Amino acid sequence: MTLHLVEHPLVAHYLTRLRDRETTPDEFREASDKIITLLLYEATRDLRTRTYRIQTPLEETNGYAIGDRVVAVPILRAGLGLVGPVLELLPHVTVGYIGLERDERTAVASRYYVKLPPDIAGKAVMILDPMLATGGTATKAVEIMKEYQPASVRLVCVVAAPEGIQALQAAHPDVQIFTAARDRELNVQKYILPGLGDYGDRLFGT
Ligand code: URA
Repeated sequence: MTLHLVEHPLVAHYLTRLRDRETTPDEFREASDKIITLLLYEATRDLRTRTYRIQTPLEETNGYAIGDRVVAVPILRAGLGLVGPVLELLPHVTVGYIGLERDERTAVASRYYVKLPPDIAGKAVMILDPMLATGGTATKAVEIMKEYQPASVRLVCVVAAPEGIQALQAAHPDVQIFTAARDRELNVQKYILPGLGDYGDRLFGT
């Protein structure tokens, strides 16, 4: 598995806005959209393009179109906040949804909602989950998506904990992770430190 730590002054700026507890839900949503757009720039770097001829106002030249088809899969609930920039940026993207709940006794994540587009086989799956904490949810989401034989699976998250990276890597070494930060550790409640709190709560003002 490859961990892509996206280091860029704009990413650092918007990540700080997300981390700051004084940031309001409005500001949080705006910073979230911007940082996701920046992460998508990296997460789509290896998509293949198709070449075709176009006519500029002056002459004919080569044009390029995205050849790979992407299926974005936000994990409920916080992943919903990542869909907007994906729809804006990626041509021909389709969107599926996965809802997972954790058994507090066994810590095992199980599916309570799965709604996916048809024809995932051979496509590039992009799982959207802003916080990679223990890795339990991401691991389960990847397992579900692999049932549909995609060409590749990648995870876009804003912040990743070392524990989650390690767990996902052990279960699915082929999955690429794109993140703005590799944080220090999890606390006893499994929140990421220094982190930014509960992404869903901050995004939706709950
Ligand atoms: N989910 C969150 O929203 N925040 C964390 O820190 C960990 C999991």
